[in-house]
Amino acid sequence: MSIRLGDTAPDFTAQTTLGEVHFHDWLGTSWGVLFSHPKDFTPVCTTELGYVARIKPEFDRRNVKVIGLSVDSVESHLKWEKDIEETQGTAVNFPMIGDADRTVANLYDMIHPNANDTLTVRSVFIIGPDKKVKLSLTYPASTGRNFDELLRVIDSLQLTAYQKVATPANWKNGEDVIIVPSLSNDDAKQLFPEGWDEKKPYLRLVKQPTAK
Ligand code: BEZ
Repeated sequence: MSIRLGDTAPDFTAQTTLGEVHFHDWLGTSWGVLFSHPKDFTPVCTTELGYVARIKPEFDRRNVKVIGLSVDSVESHLKWEKDIEETQGTAVNFPMIGDADRTVANLYDMIHPNANDTLTVRSVFIIGPDKKVKLSLTYPASTGRNFDELLRVIDSLQLTAYQKVATPANWKNGEDVIIVPSLSNDDAKQLFPEGWDEKKPYLRLVKQPTAK
């Protein structure tokens, strides 16, 4: 059964490169990113994990915990992490789940048998502090993900959660945003006393507020 947006992210206990993790407890009140890669000691995955390690301060700044996974063992992850540090210039600084028995991969439907019946695809789940799934995406093994886009989505999700605004197509941090349609004009006046640009009653643009 696949996981849909708004579902509670399945809880689990797993061994990771940084010790045992009880997922919901580990998330605490943070946002989370759970992402899988197909296999240790493979080239695209090596670049992905190096990049996530490099931009981890950007996740920290947004109160987001990051955790990786593949169906390799923790011992294999730890050996591979030496190569990642050597070739990508940054040590892996977040936990990697060893999921050799596929418990978590099966819970999150990360194995797509018609693509590959043993390896996880490149899945990503963004999870809110309420433990609900806010985004899921799936990339093929041969395409490295754009982790800057994940940060952009997190910025958008946090603006919606904390400021009642949505973000338009191709929005970048700092550009105008959209007052969510569920907010009445009366309520919007309280939140946006400087007003907004009403293109249509359902399309109200406003300067981007800060996320919190
Ligand atoms: C890679 O990370 O390079 C990769 C992994 C599995 C299949 C294809 C590519």
